Amino acid sequence: MHNVNPELAELNQLIWRTIAARRDIVSGRQVQVPSTIAGERQDCESRFSDSFTVLDHLQRALSLASENELAEIGAGFARVMTELRWSQNPNYTTDNSSQSFLDGYAYAGFSGPDAPILCAAPLGGLVLLGPDVVYPSHHHQPKEVYLVLTPGSQWCLDEGGWFDVAPGSLIFHHSWQMHAMRTRDEPLLAFAGWLDVGDRRAIGWSEYNHRSGE
Ligand SMILES: [Fe+2]
Repeated sequence: MHNVNPELAELNQLIWRTIAARRDIVSGRQVQVPSTIAGERQDCESRFSDSFTVLDHLQRALSLASENELAEIGAGFARVMTELRWSQNPNYTTDNSSQSFLDGYAYAGFSGPDAPILCAAPLGGLVLLGPDVVYPSHHHQPKEVYLVLTPGSQWCLDEGGWFDVAPGSLIFHHSWQMHAMRTRDEPLLAFAGWLDVGDRRAIGWSEYNHRSGE
């Protein structure tokens, strides 16, 4: 067993308790948070860097995340940031997404096979999007939950329209449900969790993207 920073472990528990206590803003239902499933260490997010372009917006995002009802979580991120490694899904390329997306997104795992808290599930971590970025519509087998921590972004499920989310919003994605997110003039910081065992490389993009620009 490797050592996990106690502050990171505590923050991770606080986040999952917060998720379990909220309701999905679409269905109004609570999300069943799974027990931790043990796993072997393995590399999933092979593209690690501390110089992704989007990280220019991290301080602003952390500041926004510490100004709302989830400020305890937002402030916690700032304290554990040195424990995290920023990454991009190695299967996201300019061929299947866009350069503006790749310049505008990064993920920092909390728990998972290649994250500080070693497990097979749930996979959890921070998603950071810069301002004016679209995370194109995509899907995956594991059920997913997002806890939004900053204001001003929008979500799109299946082939529906864009709707506003706010700090504290919980959004549940069913297995294989298409979902997209976009920002306006502020960055988005959210905690994303996969509730089932899965490989982050096995994410499929939607054919809908070419006509979802609105
Ligand atoms: Fe997802």
